[in-house]
Amino acid sequence: MDLKEAILQRRSIRNYLDQAVPKEMIHELIQAAIWAPSGSNAQPWAFSVIEDREELERLSEEIKAFLLQNIDNMPNLQQYRKTLANPAYRIFYNAPCLLTIYAKYQSGPNAVGDCYIASQNVMLAAHAMGLGSCFCGFALHYLNLPDVKKRYGVAEENQAVAPVMLGYPAVIPPPPQRREPEIIFWK
Ligand SMILES: Cc1cc2nc3c(=O)[nH]c(=O)nc-3n(C[C@H](O)[C@H](O)[C@H](O)COP(=O)(O)O)c2cc1C
Repeated sequence: MDLKEAILQRRSIRNYLDQAVPKEMIHELIQAAIWAPSGSNAQPWAFSVIEDREELERLSEEIKAFLLQNIDNMPNLQQYRKTLANPAYRIFYNAPCLLTIYAKYQSGPNAVGDCYIASQNVMLAAHAMGLGSCFCGFALHYLNLPDVKKRYGVAEENQAVAPVMLGYPAVIPPPPQRREPEIIFWK
């Protein structure tokens, strides 16, 4: 697939088929991630994969409960109060795979930004491979709670930066609008 096509046609997918992502594809996506640029080539990332359906379901329920409990202190989430309170809402939209990129802090000051860049490689590569993806900001706070890190064997100094769900798309939404770019200066 042409890169421009991939950039324009990738969408955040919020409805997935009940079909696992082959392990080789997940490895391929991790390879796409590690070929992202990183400050001083520090490659400050580490990865986790959850494919277990029950674990994803449990995580989704725990995250919803956590966000609703704390929503009064999270102004940017107020608009999602109703969504999160809906028992039918699934944080991962029934995607069969969650690939999370963790920043390894000891690797340098650009670690978080580097992981965001790596996640875009994952999402574009997934699209080019016929997979759907969606970045899951809702999961971030919860994945970084000390107890949750402990549960998954994640070192305290690692920070979850980019949880990306993956799967075969059941519905591809129309492109959401983009505003015209604001060009501040062009000398
Ligand atoms: C940092 C970040 C966090 C996001 N968090 C969520 C999320 O928690 N749930 C969700 O459904 N989409 C999430 N998205 C997807 C955005 O809503 C989506 O990218 C945006 O609406 C534009 O749509 P598009 O990706 O199809 O172009 C997130 C995207 C980014 C970059």
